[in-house]
Amino acid sequence: MRWATALLALCAGSGAGAFYIPSLSPTTFKVGDVVPLFVNRVFSEHVPLPFAYYDLPFVCRPETVHRPWLNLGEVLRGDRIASSDYRLVMGHNSTCQVLCTKTLDAAASREAKRFVEQDYLVEWIVDKLPAATAYRGASGLSYKPGFRIGAYDRTKDRAYLNNHVDLHVRYERHGDGRRIVGLEAYPRSVSGGVAACAELDRAESLAVGNGEVRVTYTYSISWVEDTGVTWSHRWDRYLSEGNAQVHWYAIFNSAIIILLLSGVVVVILMRMLNRDMALDDEELGDIEETSGWKLLHGDVFRPPSLGGLLAPLLGTTVQVMYTFIATIALGTVGALSPSHRGGLLTTGIVVFMLMGCVAGYYSGHLYRTWGGGNWFKNAVMTAVAAPMAALGTELVLNLFLWYRASSAAMPFSTIMLMVVLWLLVELPLTLLGGWLGFRRRPYSEPMRTNAIPRPVPPQPRYLQPVAGILVAGALPFAVIFVELFFVLKSVWQDAFYYQYGFAVIAGLLLALTVCETTVIMVWLSLNAGQHRWWWRSFVFGASSSVYIFAYSVFFYATRLRAGMPDVAGFVPTLTFFVHSLLIAAAYALCTGSMGFFAAYFFVRRIYDAAKLS
Ligand SMILES: *[C@@H]1O[C@H](CO)[C@@H](O)[C@H](O)[C@H]1NC(C)=O
Repeated sequence: MRWATALLALCAGSGAGAFYIPSLSPTTFKVGDVVPLFVNRVFSEHVPLPFAYYDLPFVCRPETVHRPWLNLGEVLRGDRIASSDYRLVMGHNSTCQVLCTKTLDAAASREAKRFVEQDYLVEWIVDKLPAATAYRGASGLSYKPGFRIGAYDRTKDRAYLNNHVDLHVRYERHGDGRRIVGLEAYPRSVSGGVAACAELDRAESLAVGNGEVRVTYTYSISWVEDTGVTWSHRWDRYLSEGNAQVHWYAIFNSAIIILLLSGVVVVILMRMLNRDMALDDEELGDIEETSGWKLLHGDVFRPPSLGGLLAPLLGTTVQVMYTFIATIALGTVGALSPSHRGGLLTTGIVVFMLMGCVAGYYSGHLYRTWGGGNWFKNAVMTAVAAPMAALGTELVLNLFLWYRASSAAMPFSTIMLMVVLWLLVELPLTLLGGWLGFRRRPYSEPMRTNAIPRPVPPQPRYLQPVAGILVAGALPFAVIFVELFFVLKSVWQDAFYYQYGFAVIAGLLLALTVCETTVIMVWLSLNAGQHRWWWRSFVFGASSSVYIFAYSVFFYATRLRAGMPDVAGFVPTLTFFVHSLLIAAAYALCTGSMGFFAAYFFVRRIYDAAKLS
């Protein structure tokens, strides 16, 4: 039970507060130092199309814009960080500073209204912290990144643009210096320029969307000393949203399902053993024998049809799985801090490329086992098939995103970078792995294969493709769906996901469930005389991805589109569905290969045992 203790400890660690290393080195400012404020992008929880802040036609753009270097993950999630003219001087409060005055023509004004209507949020960054909307709850202060671009009055169909921001920068004293520990933005809509800003309480809101309008952008800065939080815990307020209780409930729920399932597996194995013993003792059971799995011994190890496709697919799935494990492991030991924007994605992509050798190796080995002869073709197939299908899909989607000028579109240079990385890293590593795997001795199967395949009797309904998928997918989905909600939320609503401890546990429980369900389904199939189990085990394993996709659609309808009538349009919907499909496909690959390998292990074991007796 030691592993269980370790798991519990891990879990407690993540429950006691998100588990991360805040950053490598804090920045300490002196009073009077200028603290740069970067603008990044605007995003919406309802429309998956972020835009670069300076691409908005109704904001002020400085004469010269400096752009810091962005990592791959940042670019892919739509970040476009750029310098701004907002002037923050450590320790100096200021009120109603004017950033600029801009006259919006009718088109820009309409555009502003559209953004307000779709509930867009603005992301500013100071000292790596995003400016946040603050909530005061029972558990104290918590932050949600971003602040509203405006306020929309649905009953009157009027949009008010937030052109004034009160920025509260919280700091902690450190020697003579100060460190920033929090950043709260309180946006306001003010018509009437600076004069009105001085008397905020009496100012009227600034409506946009009805022809030309003059907008004065103003801001106030207050520096607030905060003794409630230290620099190393400054991210806690951003991450406090994830409620540990819900995760615990999910794990409890999964544990019960797994107990039941394991019970079934044990009963099957016991029955099998008992029956075999009974046969030995009494030489009975000729009737039972004719329909049992043992009869298939000459067929179960016949290489699968389309083995040249199954082997690369399985290779890639092992690659995806290793990438998952390595990335989550890095997150669990704290290498992926929220200060490293895009760190998770960048790490994931790089690890995936490096894991090409694993893909090649497994693919090559299985290919050889199934009697394939051309290792090079197989390795190239492994490197090309799944990654290029995913990249190709993304590129098609990218055309639409480009057309909408969304910052979620991959810039051409990023696409080139990915292609070059693939050519220089993944392809060679896959070839190397493929060669090594092919050279290894193939798996020796316990039974020889008959020349002529046995006819397959008609299958019971629950083993037919559609029903089988629905049956086999239900349990794994039941195990994963609570954690899935948080993952979807972090993908689509930019919530921070740093509950790696829970993710690890949920992943392990999921793997266990998928393996057990697949073994049961394959066992039932074999007993029903179905000896073509290779692809079946893969499909049974992957079956819960159907539910995952359905759940994504449900999430889309209830969380994203709720209260957003008809404003989203075609491109956001397409983005959502393409990404959901890709997520479900990656998930299907992972769980499919888990099922496959579990079933392979199981089938070899039972026929090994059968051979002995
Ligand atoms: C700045 O404003 C904050 C909050 O309004 C206040 O607590 C603080 O004392 C002010 N600092 C200075 C130097 O006036």
